[in-house]
Formats: sequence, C-alpha cells, structure tokens
Amino acid sequence: MPDRTSFDLVIVANRLPVDRVTGPDGRVELRRSPGGLVTAMESVMRGREGAWVGWAGEAGEASDPFVEDDMYLVPVPLSADEVADYYEGYSNASLWPIYHDVIVQPVFKRRWRSAYEKVNRRFAEAAADCAARGATVWVHDYQLQLAPHILRELRPDLRIGWFNHIPFPPVELFMQLPRREELLRGLLGADFLGFQRRTDAENFRSACRRLLGATVKGEIVTTEDGRAVRAAAVPISIDADGLQQLARSEPVQERAREIRHELGDPDLVLLGVDRLDYTKGIRHRLKAFGELLSEGTLTAPGDVLIQVATPSRERLEAYQTLRGQVERTVGQINGDYAPIGTPAVSYLHRSFPREEMAALFVAADVMLVTPLRDGMNLVAKEYVTCHGDDGALVLSEFTGAAVELQGAYRCNPHDIDALKTTIMEAARSPLDERRRRMRSMRRQVASHDVARWAQDFLDDLAAAPDKPERR
Ligand code: ADP
Ligand code: G6P
Repeated sequence: MPDRTSFDLVIVANRLPVDRVTGPDGRVELRRSPGGLVTAMESVMRGREGAWVGWAGEAGEASDPFVEDDMYLVPVPLSADEVADYYEGYSNASLWPIYHDVIVQPVFKRRWRSAYEKVNRRFAEAAADCAARGATVWVHDYQLQLAPHILRELRPDLRIGWFNHIPFPPVELFMQLPRREELLRGLLGADFLGFQRRTDAENFRSACRRLLGATVKGEIVTTEDGRAVRAAAVPISIDADGLQQLARSEPVQERAREIRHELGDPDLVLLGVDRLDYTKGIRHRLKAFGELLSEGTLTAPGDVLIQVATPSRERLEAYQTLRGQVERTVGQINGDYAPIGTPAVSYLHRSFPREEMAALFVAADVMLVTPLRDGMNLVAKEYVTCHGDDGALVLSEFTGAAVELQGAYRCNPHDIDALKTTIMEAARSPLDERRRRMRSMRRQVASHDVARWAQDFLDDLAAAPDKPERR
C-alpha cells in the first residue's frame, strides 16, 4: 500500500464498508455495513488501489487508518451529538424524506443543518489529506452534498465527482429545504455529477435553473463562477459474474433446497428483501399478501412469503413506527392463516452472509420488489442474477431498476388490487414466458454490471467539461 498522502483515487462516503461494533465486554468487532452503496463500492474498490474515507458507524473517537480486505480505510470520527444531528437528523429525517417523495413528513432543525455543514467539512478535509496531487476524488450520496464545494476550495487541483445513490427530487419538493441553494452550490463544486435515472439528473438541473438562475444547456450547468458541470445518469449495478458464480455453487444450491424443505416444501415461495425502511413498500406488500390469503386465492402452508427486513436507523421514530406496523401485520397474518408450525410469513429481522442471501434468491419463485420510491434497488438485480430461468420479478414502477429491467412484472404498489393481480400473474405465468423475461433481465444486468458502472462514471469524470486548475 502506498503511504497515506499519495492516493490517486479517493472514495468519500458516509459509511466505511465495515462498522466497528464494541460489545458489552469492550471487545471490538468489524461487521459489514448495511445498504446498496457498500455492496456496490466494495466490489469496485477490491480491484483498485485507493483510499476509502468514511464513518465506522459508532459515535466517538475514530481509529487510525487501517487495511481491511486489501482496502485502505480512513475512519472519520462523529461525536454522539453529530450522529444525532448530522446523520439521524439532517441526513435521514430532513433529506431522506424530501428525496423520497415525502412518504413521511420531513423535519427541519437549524442545529441539524449546522452539524451537516461541519461534518461535510470534516469529510472533505480527510479526503484532501489523503489525495495525491491531481487525484480523483469520488464523493457519494446525499449525506455529503456540501463536500464537493469545500473540497474544491481546499484542493483546486483535484478532479471531483459525486454520485447520488438515491433519487433527486422534483424541484417543487426540493424547494421545501431551508438553505436549499447552498446544497446546489455544494454539489456544483464537483466536475461531474452522476444520478441513477435521467429524471434525477433533469430534476437537479431544473433546480439549478429555477433556484440559482443558472444557465443549463443539455446536460451542462454553468456555475456562478463560470465553470461547466455535467449532470447525467449513470445507473448503478451489481457484481453479476461473482454473484452468479456464488448462486450456482453446490453449497448455495443445496442450501436453497434446504430452505424450501424447512418451509414445508411449499408450491409457491414469495420473497421480499429490504432494509426496514418506509420507502420500500413493505406494508403494501404485506397487505396484498394478507388479502390474497383471506380471499383464498393463496393458502398457507402451500403458499408462503419470506420477508427479510434488515434493521435500519433504529433510533428514528419513523423507523420504529414502521417496525411496529410490520411486525403487527406479520403477527396478524400468521395468527389468522398459518397452521401450527409453518408460518405464512417467515419474518427475518437480521443480517445474513452473502451465501445465505444468494440461497434465498435461488429458493424464491417470485421476488417482490415494491418500493414507493427507490434510487435503484440492487435486490431486484441480485434476484434476476441468482435465480434460474423459472423465476419472476414483481417490480415497482417507482424504482430506478424499472428503467432497465423491462422483463419484470411492473406494479404500482399504492394500488393494492392491481398489486394482487400482478403478484398472481407473476406466480401463475407459463414457464416459457418466465424464461423469456428472466433471460432478458439477466442479460441486461450481466452486460451492465458494477465494473462497467464504475468505469463509465470515472470516464465521464475524466472527460468532464472543465479541466481542474493545476497548482
Ligand atoms: P438499500 O441500499 O436502500 O438498502 P438496495 O436494494 O439497493 O437497497 O441494496 C441493499 C443491499 O443490501 C443488497 O446488496 C442486499 O442484498 C443487501 N441486503 C439486504 N438485506 C440484507 C440482509 N438482511 N443481510 C445481508 N444483506 C442484505
Ligand atoms: C442507502 C443509502 C446509503 C446508506 C444505506 C444504508 O443505500 O443510499 O447511503 O448507506 O442506505 O443506510 P445507513 O443509514 O445505515 O447508512
């Protein structure tokens, strides 16, 4: 590994790929961090030499930089107050709801916004410290929208990119944010801005036009100081090859058979895999499944649902409320329809190793991906990659994945009757139709995998219109 000040590529994200977890006995353990950003960037960074600047998931002092799995990781400290104000507050109770169609009411607090700025500066300084002269710095996601501008001020020699893993809202929603112009100026500190869908990039450019009076021509926004910044779609993906190999391995295939057997060898296995987040449409999915059972269209234990609901942002009220609602509904469905010993809904509120996730994807006849809004949804791409030809994907129109995965059974999760019809259409569709749809989706993901995404982003960044000023 090169010494700490000489990296040509620096990734900056709120999270490191691993969380430090201190047990009650004071022992420190490293655990894989949750979410799609980590899934994607972990596979990108494996084959490259670079540093990853991020938070290790615990409040308090940060450890020294360390190497894990061949990745050079630079922890950024957050105090307990900063976790509450920058991470839980501004990032996840102000920005997250605004960027996801205001599914829950956003909360704005001036104290949170100040913490966000302070922490963005800390991330930018940490990146500036370990970037070589003329290096490429790739900033990630909504938690770090002020960092590109701060970084440019600190280090005008750098080439700076930013990628948004979540949607970018229509200007009418974005406008609700106090001090919204500063967020746009923060982002315009980058040379290139990547978004999941064309609509997200368009929304960003419209916000620049409407709120900053910026000139926008095609994909190029001209900043107040005359720089040209490109904002365009570069949809994220998965390590399709690696995952397919894992899914086809004998232990995973065997485990998939075992999972079905443990469920009582049902005829139909439906699967949902999500962080326990209100954006994911878990309640809508459970409602549809419950009604299908109550009408007798489906019957337990012949027809079952596995719902993996990964713990997420557990101190936030909206997440606690959702957890209560989901767990109550699962209890009701099982209470009403499941025979002794075989639940109609197998509810799993924990993390699993990659092998177990792959086995679940192989085991499921129909994958239910029903978010109310989602930047991409990697789970949809993981399912079509892992499962054989006889699977079926029910996919919400409100995901980035719906743009690419044309072979999915598309649904509007708000329309419960239509969702039920779509689930049944997917479950009862003839094998040749499933095969055609699954093959086309698998081909799409294989030819647009995460390596191609990262290369496309870095190429776009290198070719961005404004050359950085060299000192
Ligand atoms: P998000 O980033 O919003 O969580 P994505 O679907 O884009 O949603 O990415 C989620 C990632 O986390 C996927 O790679 C998925 O396989 C993984 N994942 C989800 N739940 C679990 C779990 N319980 N255990 C392990 N990995 C999980
Ligand atoms: C989404 C976001 C990521 C985030 C992840 C998990 O994928 O785009 O930035 O890391 O969710 O959320 P968390 O708050 O636990 O980091």
